[in-house]
Amino acid sequence: MPDRYDLPAGFRWGVATAAYQIEGAVDEDGRGPSIWDTFTARPGTVRDGHTGAVACDHYHRYPEDIELMRGLGLDGYRFSIAWPRIRPTGAGPANPAGLAFYDRLVDDLLAVGITPLPTLFHWDLPQALEDRGGWLNRDTAYHFAEYAAIVADRLGDRVPAWITLNEPFVHMVYGHALGIHAPGHALMLDALPVAHHQLLAHGLAASLLHERGLDVLISNNLTPVEPASPSPADLAAAEAYDTLHNRLFTDPLLLGRYPDLTAFGTGPDLHGAVRPGDLDLITATPLTGLGVNYYNPTRIAAPTDPSLPFTFAEIPDVPHTAFGWPVVPDGLTHLLLHLRDTYGKALPPLTITENGCSTTEGPDDTFRISYLSTHLDALATAAAEGVDVRGYYTWSLIDNFEWAEGYHQRFGLVHVDFVTQARTPRASYAWYRDLIAAHRVRCATGGSVTSGDR
Ligand code: BGC
Ligand code: BGC
Repeated sequence: MPDRYDLPAGFRWGVATAAYQIEGAVDEDGRGPSIWDTFTARPGTVRDGHTGAVACDHYHRYPEDIELMRGLGLDGYRFSIAWPRIRPTGAGPANPAGLAFYDRLVDDLLAVGITPLPTLFHWDLPQALEDRGGWLNRDTAYHFAEYAAIVADRLGDRVPAWITLNEPFVHMVYGHALGIHAPGHALMLDALPVAHHQLLAHGLAASLLHERGLDVLISNNLTPVEPASPSPADLAAAEAYDTLHNRLFTDPLLLGRYPDLTAFGTGPDLHGAVRPGDLDLITATPLTGLGVNYYNPTRIAAPTDPSLPFTFAEIPDVPHTAFGWPVVPDGLTHLLLHLRDTYGKALPPLTITENGCSTTEGPDDTFRISYLSTHLDALATAAAEGVDVRGYYTWSLIDNFEWAEGYHQRFGLVHVDFVTQARTPRASYAWYRDLIAAHRVRCATGGSVTSGDR
């Protein structure tokens, strides 16, 4: 069996974070409010009333965090840019202090040999745009493209590749259908236009990035969907869930059309959101790569009530993370092989832009090491089967603000004490560092890694 040391030469090793989850400094240097500031201020939204107001104080401590990354020997760092730092009211002139922060971050990363991989939208919409309808309003897509161009004009001379959006599925469902995340709308299937407006935003921004000679990716949360039984009802339910979670986003991006959404009570216009020409805009710029965020598979059974065409089922006999998510490493292999078989030549090279787990472990996080190593072995299996996978960015460098869970779910290679802000690398940090080094040696020598390196 291939394992993680067999990942291809030139494979890029990284870590991932997001602005609202680590930066803090929400009122500093002209940053405007985001929907997450508003949402977390509302009682009962986030566990124990936690907010991202301070988070990991990365806005001030980023040199220390870069030092941690340098210690890992990373090729790349995936972070997100806070739109409300760049355009505090969502429109109008750029905020120079906001741009200057990311300018310093990029220069300091490059100085230690780490390639910045920014995400332009990781869920922190300027509140001013939410006040005008947010992602339910088509205009937000055009505001996003303007913001993307502003940032690319400032950083594009040093940053070769860009991720437009993070997980438009999760932002639509958690933020707009269920109301568990900001902006807190519980619209159920009336949230579907949020999918289209995000994809339109991607397409408009991608063209502007491409015009500037930059590479374009998008990161989707993808899950392999398995039916709870081979019964026709469970199979139909699984197909419906796959359509909503995966194909609603990958089909328009890669095939230029929406999947059949009749199980969700709409035609291909997503409740009237899709206008003539929009799919051409979405696909105008071919993706340089598809970012895959993988955490777990999903098991689906026939619906128990008529409001949705599926229901969730438990995956039996597997360990669970602290979050309660099932640990199924070969789900990653199946997901990637399925993507290749479904999209064929239309599938661009893949990069794993998130994968990791939350645990309640202390410094010796053997559960995390096991999670990461088995998932990387599963990735190597897909690569050996011919899937073109170019890199892996683990979630996350440091413990951070885990959305509705506040600071309760810890995903970091590095522990953060949220009182003192002390960073303490866990065992997984040294493990990841050693893996990266051993893989490089293996590629450089073309030989095998000795058991001592492992
Ligand atoms: C994760 C998914 C997970 C979902 C449900 C998302 O944030 O990315 O993998 O299934 O939450 O908790
Ligand atoms: C998101 C991250 C989040 C992680 C773990 C992904 O859904 O992009 O922001 O922290 O999963 O839940």
